[in-house]
Amino acid sequence: MNVLNSIKIRLEKDKDYREVEELTREAFWRKERVEKLGVGCIEHYMVHCLRKIDGIKELDFVAEIDGKIVGHVIYSRAYILQCNNEKKEVINFGPLSVLPEYQKQGIGSALMKYSIECAKELGYGAMLFFGHPTYYPRFGFVEAKEFGITTAWGANFPAFMAMELKKGYLEGVNGRYIESKIYDEELNKEKAKKYDENFYLK
Ligand SMILES: CC(C)(COP(=O)(O)OP(=O)(O)OC[C@H]1O[C@@H](n2cnc3c(N)ncnc32)[C@H](O)[C@@H]1OP(=O)(O)O)[C@@H](O)C(=O)NCCC(=O)NCCS
Repeated sequence: MNVLNSIKIRLEKDKDYREVEELTREAFWRKERVEKLGVGCIEHYMVHCLRKIDGIKELDFVAEIDGKIVGHVIYSRAYILQCNNEKKEVINFGPLSVLPEYQKQGIGSALMKYSIECAKELGYGAMLFFGHPTYYPRFGFVEAKEFGITTAWGANFPAFMAMELKKGYLEGVNGRYIESKIYDEELNKEKAKKYDENFYLK
């Protein structure tokens, strides 16, 4: 059966929060991370934090099949700190999650395409993020260095990608990419581990 025939993409509602965090936890959980971090993933805690700080509610989507949430993507506010100290607003996305048993059937791609179109319609200028360099170019991403943008710490590498949503938005923008402050202030393994205690034991 082609799941794409029965998939419905819609905005996330408050009542979906728990189901979405459980889904995110299932998608990202890795046994190796338990040994390293004390918790199998921190992305469900990341979603929780983004809802409070810098998350973009109008770009927070779930993919549903017969009432069951099988995929999710959330976006957040970020900016480029330009060499002249001006800030250029951009958006970031992630985590992007699909339940393991529904992966590789096009749901992640459907969520990406749908949310990118919505972001364009809502007038956002550009997206940047860190992700898999083999998966994301299919949506139009290129390496951020092509726009003269580095990470906050001045680096470039293939996993650091960017895409204009408005043509020319990143032209002449040289600077450093600064993500939501949750990454500096909120997101650490101790807090993630504590938060994970609210979920069933894996
Ligand atoms: C990444 C993810 C969202 C993709 O969703 P999906 O519904 O499985 O993706 P689609 O079916 O639309 O696309 C499948 C393609 O993605 C590729 N892909 C999936 N996960 C990938 C990964 N981590 N790295 C590179 N490629 C990946 C598959 O190889 C496949 O490629 P192909 O089309 O060339 O065969 C899903 O696999 C997932 O939830 N993974 C765990 C969490 C994660 O890593 N999220 C992304 C980081 S934010």
